[in-house]
Amino acid sequence: MSDLPELITELPGPASRAWVDRLAQRECPAITARRARRAQSLGVADTDPVVWDRALGANVWDVDGNRLVDLTAGFGVAAVGHRHPRVVAAGQEQLARLPHAMGDAFPDPRRIELLERLAELTGLDHGILGSSGSDAVEAALKTARVASGLDGVLAFSAGYHGLSYGALGVLGYKREAFAGPFSGQLGEHLSLAPFGGPLPSLQGIGAVLVEPIQGRGGVRVPPPGWLSRLREACDQAGAVLIFDEIYTGFGRTGGLFAFQHEGVVPDLLCLGKGMASGSPISACMGRAEVMQAWGASQGEALHTQTFLGHPVGCAMALASIQVLLDEDLVERSRTLGAWLAQELAAFGPVRGRGLLLGLELPDTLRASRELLQRGYIALPAGQQAEVLCLTPPLTISEPQLQGLIDALAELL
Ligand SMILES: Cc1ncc(COP(=O)(O)O)c(C=O)c1O
Repeated sequence: MSDLPELITELPGPASRAWVDRLAQRECPAITARRARRAQSLGVADTDPVVWDRALGANVWDVDGNRLVDLTAGFGVAAVGHRHPRVVAAGQEQLARLPHAMGDAFPDPRRIELLERLAELTGLDHGILGSSGSDAVEAALKTARVASGLDGVLAFSAGYHGLSYGALGVLGYKREAFAGPFSGQLGEHLSLAPFGGPLPSLQGIGAVLVEPIQGRGGVRVPPPGWLSRLREACDQAGAVLIFDEIYTGFGRTGGLFAFQHEGVVPDLLCLGKGMASGSPISACMGRAEVMQAWGASQGEALHTQTFLGHPVGCAMALASIQVLLDEDLVERSRTLGAWLAQELAAFGPVRGRGLLLGLELPDTLRASRELLQRGYIALPAGQQAEVLCLTPPLTISEPQLQGLIDALAELL
């Protein structure tokens, strides 16, 4: 069976339109972009989203039965592909055995196995599990405050770490739009420095939070040696270095983790998205010394949540990590990414590494819309939407990527 796009209706089709109309009746209007409306404000023609019905590998079928190719991996989540049979089986088995345990009070074996696995892979001994990327960021910020005793946080221009209050407080990406209404509630602890630029003094800074390669901020790779200098500066100042690898982790950039490219080891490491290829689970891993600053639980966990280390998410994460290793997908990300970057260079400057790539184009919104009309899902990224962001499942096939290149050649 072909895995290329197959369109049987216009996009969005009648069923998608009907669902989006129903959604608009019930969801907070700030959530789902009615693209027609957004497009109007930008002065371009655009359409509403298609509604996803099912997915497999790098394919998504919408509710009208159109087969699409997902070049986002669903925001970077489906690392080993959507609905990988081994990940699904692990989730189903756990669901049938024990869907929920009791967080910090009564653990279950999958949570323990996942923490062991993450420690083995990252070299960081202790972890705090969460349900979303921003949970991992909150856990890291709290841990750094406890370990350093200092309130100050240094983060970077265009950095994105999620939209919960703690993460919002350290946002660089479109700060005015996302954090503006809440600025009175966010505290004064943040300083922002240019990503990849000169480092400011770290006096009063307890945590330095950075994406080793920025994702949503525009697929920006810092200059060689910059992360090492950041490490040295943190060591000298006694600040805790946090790498947010929620986007870049688990093979996305052609290394298991992006920090391994330069051998710069952070004190705390935030993971999420592709960790389980489809379950909302995340982790903040850390050096023993830093995590131990919390002290032992006195009977009431100082940091926890109802769904801490959700057993189904843990089982799916364990399976997804095993698939990543068994199918050699980190290497695939490296080689396929290098090939794709070379092909894309015919259309404009290319940023990124592995299968985290950004193609600079004069009008990425138009490119995204016209790709969708040809059955390819890709979104813009960057403060000015300056790149078309490509983060496909690491299992995407060569014909699917060739199809993208042909489509780009046609529309550019
Ligand atoms: C680097 C990075 N950190 C944190 C987050 C927030 O993760 P979540 O949306 O799961 O809270 C994201 C999400 O895009 C991200 O890209």
